[in-house]
Amino acid sequence: MSLREIDTACWQQLETGAREPDSGFHILTLASVDLQGKPQARTLVLRAVDREKRTLEFHTDMRSPKWQALAVNPEVTVLGYSAKTQLRLQGTVELHAAHSAVAEAAWQRLSHRTQQTYAGAAPGSDIGNPSRNIVNAEDNFGVLIIQINLLDWCLLARENNQRALLNYRSDGALTNSKWVHP
Ligand SMILES: Cc1cc2nc3c(=O)[nH]c(=O)nc-3n(C[C@H](O)[C@H](O)[C@H](O)COP(=O)(O)O)c2cc1C
Repeated sequence: MSLREIDTACWQQLETGAREPDSGFHILTLASVDLQGKPQARTLVLRAVDREKRTLEFHTDMRSPKWQALAVNPEVTVLGYSAKTQLRLQGTVELHAAHSAVAEAAWQRLSHRTQQTYAGAAPGSDIGNPSRNIVNAEDNFGVLIIQINLLDWCLLARENNQRALLNYRSDGALTNSKWVHP
């Protein structure tokens, strides 16, 4: 496979990941740095991919700790592993808060059941102290759009492990790419 072919295949796999719940890259890990400067990683569902712009879309509750942390430090890595392939995607997050145009459009596409997951108590809040506040689910719904600037592709294959680095410009164009030792 050429570097161009790897680029195309990776973004196709990510698109499939967003579309098909049983596919390998549907569930990814988002790593970021918290307000104390410590690394944090958590599992997120990949919701949408724009292969031209090189963006990934995730949804989250704005009351979760990651929202504040990402507002202060938007540098992230998204990690996925499927079919002997590791994708490490470095990028910068754009936060789209509740009722913004992007959040509103994403909200309309959610099922009622998924919408209601944003109506409960704040993520990470104490079970022993149930909140009696009535919350409007949509007020908590935020969208993360991650602009990817580096894709680190690594394939494990018995005799022939392979790894490549692909760099993207902020408009999504592939600027340079190279093979590296795995
Ligand atoms: C399979 C699975 C999928 C998840 N998907 C999401 C998601 O799409 N968005 C989200 O905010 N949290 C999701 N979570 C919960 C997060 O992993 C995490 O516990 C939560 O967002 C709080 O993270 P934080 O404390 O870093 O803000 C998911 C958890 C699991 C186990």
